[in-house]
Amino acid sequence: MDNQMCVEFDSKSENEAFARIVAAAFVAKADPTLEEIDDIKTVVSEAVTNAIIHGYGEKGDQKVFMECSLNGKKIQISIMDKGVGIDNIEEARKPLYTTKPDVHRAGMGFTFMETLMDTLEIFSKPGEGTTVRMTKNIEG
Ligand SMILES: Nc1ncnc2c1ncn2[C@@H]1O[C@H](COP(=O)(O)OP(=O)(O)O)[C@@H](O)[C@H]1O
Ligand SMILES: [Mg+2]
Repeated sequence: MDNQMCVEFDSKSENEAFARIVAAAFVAKADPTLEEIDDIKTVVSEAVTNAIIHGYGEKGDQKVFMECSLNGKKIQISIMDKGVGIDNIEEARKPLYTTKPDVHRAGMGFTFMETLMDTLEIFSKPGEGTTVRMTKNIEG
């Protein structure tokens, strides 16, 4: 493995910007294009927002974890929470599916993650939490 890092931060909405800047800085070594950097920022924002809003119900005193590794040109990003978890992962991945239509935008978070990254895996257990793991090959 070429490089690896892990950060832990409070489940506060201002940390969404923190997390995406950290991930963008980490991937810089793989010489990404501006578009690839934007993609990384978008998916980190979506996953961290999900952890804060859905996982922890906007309770700001919980912890969100982000782990990134770089293997050559391949980046892997994992976002983890110890929140409520997801009952039906298959359903949650569907475009426009949302359990909070009033609060948040349109149920497209997982769809963005799936489209902008090469792979998306979701591990979740009700009552235990959720881990979202994504990979992308940086073409540069
Ligand atoms: N970290 C998480 N913890 C619990 N539930 C989640 C989490 N991430 C996503 N979900 C569930 O999956 C649904 C779809 O997520 P997403 O595609 O990002 O749409 P949105 O966030 O707009 O609802 C959410 O409405 C929520 O029910
Ligand atoms: Mg979302």
